[in-house]
Amino acid sequence: MSTVVSGIRSTGNLHLGNYFGAVKNFIEMQHQHNTFFFIADWHSLTTHPTPADLHTNVKQVLAEYLACGIDPEKATIFIQSDVPEILELYLLLNMNAYLGELERTTSFKDKARQQPENVNAGLLTYPVLMASDILIHKAHLVPVGKDQEQNLEMARTFGRRFNRMYNVDTFPIPKSYTFEGQDMVKIPGLDGSGKMGKSEGNAISLAESPASIRKKVMKAVTDVGPTEMNQKKPEVIQNLFTLLDVVSTPDVVSHFDDAYNKCTIRYGDLKKQLAEDIINFTNPIRGRIEEITKDSEYLSKVAKNGAEKARESASKTLEEVRKIIGFRKFY
Ligand code: TRP
Repeated sequence: MSTVVSGIRSTGNLHLGNYFGAVKNFIEMQHQHNTFFFIADWHSLTTHPTPADLHTNVKQVLAEYLACGIDPEKATIFIQSDVPEILELYLLLNMNAYLGELERTTSFKDKARQQPENVNAGLLTYPVLMASDILIHKAHLVPVGKDQEQNLEMARTFGRRFNRMYNVDTFPIPKSYTFEGQDMVKIPGLDGSGKMGKSEGNAISLAESPASIRKKVMKAVTDVGPTEMNQKKPEVIQNLFTLLDVVSTPDVVSHFDDAYNKCTIRYGDLKKQLAEDIINFTNPIRGRIEEITKDSEYLSKVAKNGAEKARESASKTLEEVRKIIGFRKFY
């Protein structure tokens, strides 16, 4: 049995991209592994330092995780800021994380470009905090999307570096993981961009109302239509088919695929079908989100149990690390 850790920043609602990426994998994994799934509220401060909605956002994501089927009896589900042990390891890892390698990270460079007025040290050391999230539970596997591959590579670097410096094998080297070895499905945006993302503003959230889903899907970018039989689909069209693939039945997909190949496709029909199938897919989840959000008692029980379990695991690692580095108490 492997230990699995994954997290998601609490900067907004979970969307279809999150669901078919990390969350779906995680639901499968909770049945056969020792799984830790958390809400990265500290990480969210690197881009969203807004006290007014911090708590609401965390609560929303927690409810959404549960609504998707992450089972607190099976997985340890917790909120990052409930586990102070992560911070101590983060500090210790920072002592062996170098400015040059942190500055070279793509996500740092992107964020620095996006928010030039707020290039904070938290952004720079984002991968160190993420490494701490992972290493503190001695994770073997980390189910994340492609965009996180570099951060995960840094976690491996920091883990390996620690092991080497102190000549120990404290940290397993965490691998990225996709269920059944499949490539992670990358859910595209509806704006013709390659990826659905919160920050890209092109996402359909799991809590989205049917009316809003219809509106967004109908506005999705398309082209003038196929002009030759069996031609290769351009990216904007392939994007719609990728979405159709995950929410619709195989019949529906092959119907529109045939129509595309025969140049008889009407994008309006495809979008209508796609919107309805997304709604069918998200409807039960949205219902559960609403129910769970109202149940504060349940949410606080889940968060409390999760924090206890996560702290138990984290403090074991931290004890070991402190000893290795040479900390000893005088009392
Ligand atoms: N950086 C991840 C993201 O933006 C979130 C995250 C934080 C994470 N800590 C992690 C993911 C640890 C996996 C493991 O999606």
